[in-house]
Amino acid sequence: MDYSKLSLHVESRRDAFLEELGSILRIQSISADPSKKGEMVRCAETISEMMRSVGIENVKLFETDGNPLVYGDHIHAAGKPTVLIYGHYDVQPVDPLSEWETPPFEPTVRGDDLYARGSTDDKGQLFIHLKAFESYKQLSEDLPINLKYIFEGEEEIGSIHLEPFIRSHRDLLKADVVVISDTAMYGRDMPTICYALRGMAYLELTVENAPIDLHSGSFGGAVANPANVLADLIARLHDERGRVTIPHFYDDVLEVPAEERAEIARLPYSDEEFLRQSGAVAPYGESGYSSNERLWIRPTLDVNGIYGGFTGEGAKTIIPARATAKISMRLVPNQSSEKILDLFAAYIRQIAPPTVKTTVKKMHSGEPALTPIDHPAVRAASESLETVFGKKPFFIREGGSIPEVLTFQEALGAPVILLGFGLPDENSHAPNEHLYLRHFFDGIKTAALLYDKLARK
Ligand code: BES
Ligand code: ZN
Repeated sequence: MDYSKLSLHVESRRDAFLEELGSILRIQSISADPSKKGEMVRCAETISEMMRSVGIENVKLFETDGNPLVYGDHIHAAGKPTVLIYGHYDVQPVDPLSEWETPPFEPTVRGDDLYARGSTDDKGQLFIHLKAFESYKQLSEDLPINLKYIFEGEEEIGSIHLEPFIRSHRDLLKADVVVISDTAMYGRDMPTICYALRGMAYLELTVENAPIDLHSGSFGGAVANPANVLADLIARLHDERGRVTIPHFYDDVLEVPAEERAEIARLPYSDEEFLRQSGAVAPYGESGYSSNERLWIRPTLDVNGIYGGFTGEGAKTIIPARATAKISMRLVPNQSSEKILDLFAAYIRQIAPPTVKTTVKKMHSGEPALTPIDHPAVRAASESLETVFGKKPFFIREGGSIPEVLTFQEALGAPVILLGFGLPDENSHAPNEHLYLRHFFDGIKTAALLYDKLARK
């Protein structure tokens, strides 16, 4: 594929690509919201249509007990490698809605970015692969490799149904390499390959006392307050050095060798840029580690939300009947989410006071993953990035999770390449999610070039 021809083609299709991407961004495919079931199906169907229209074959929806999986393939390059592309069409909830400058499901270009829920995570990045396919086909007809696609609608809630599907459809999904674009680049115009993700263990911790709220004058001080107790329990989950206090929490952590820590330290980093990206007041975390290390190589525990009692306007004097915290733990290679959830529950049993009822409800989990950095397919991806971005890629870990990476590697025996085109400050999971359009178009070019590079390896 002639790169300048490819590049001109992609740039000339700019408006059409954005228009088409808009048609999937307008669908409210929030997997966490049970009332959006119809939108999930509509999104899966729209993507299937789009796949057919670009020339992908055998497009099929697989029903699950949750949201449908979308499969398609194009297998005409005998003797050449097969690449499985994975992406997710579900998105995160949009609240707080009032903080969006334009509505989350009305895609809007402002400046250099496209704003919409799912623009970077992950509809925009999934779409990159469809347009790479279409562009390649329009420019040169024959594809030099075989392609398979699997798109799911439950990534943001833990990929509950994809995991058994992968294990029971090994033949269908069989590939030499899996490519996923659902991570971020290290920074603007810094092409990146990610080689490790953290895992996830998610739970709800609930503290209850009386069956209904009590008048805090009549009872306050003489019965335990579930909100006070919850706050106390949460406070006891970390020590003053920022370490998680759950016994045995760190037992299985695979310590990262000194050479790798030195590599991480060599990446461009400044607190100033980190604070700009995050908007936070100051860096914070486990002592003895840099920000990148805290994000990439250390397990963490965070409260995602707390609710209970009176949270409306004004003041109301009650002892809440119950209070809940949604808590997630990010895990690093060699930790097991199941084991960590059990350790959490055991610790709460140990420290919870007998004056309330405490429950731990397991939500979802996903395992950490390491991907190879010296595989020929990684070199192919690296060369494609270099051609498009004009510089060699950064190799980084990331702090986020994609639960199925490990499953793909285990069940298919194929390496996963995390070739993401997002940015850390694109507000994924937050109001005003957006996608830097330069990276979107360059992503399409990179993905198309990758076909040639892989065919030669
Ligand atoms: N695209 C993210 C994964 C990600 C986030 C990679 C940040 C690199 C950096 C993905 O859509 C996601 O948000 N995953 C969830 C998984 C969880 C619900 C099991 C996550 O990380 O919170
Ligand atoms: Zn996400």
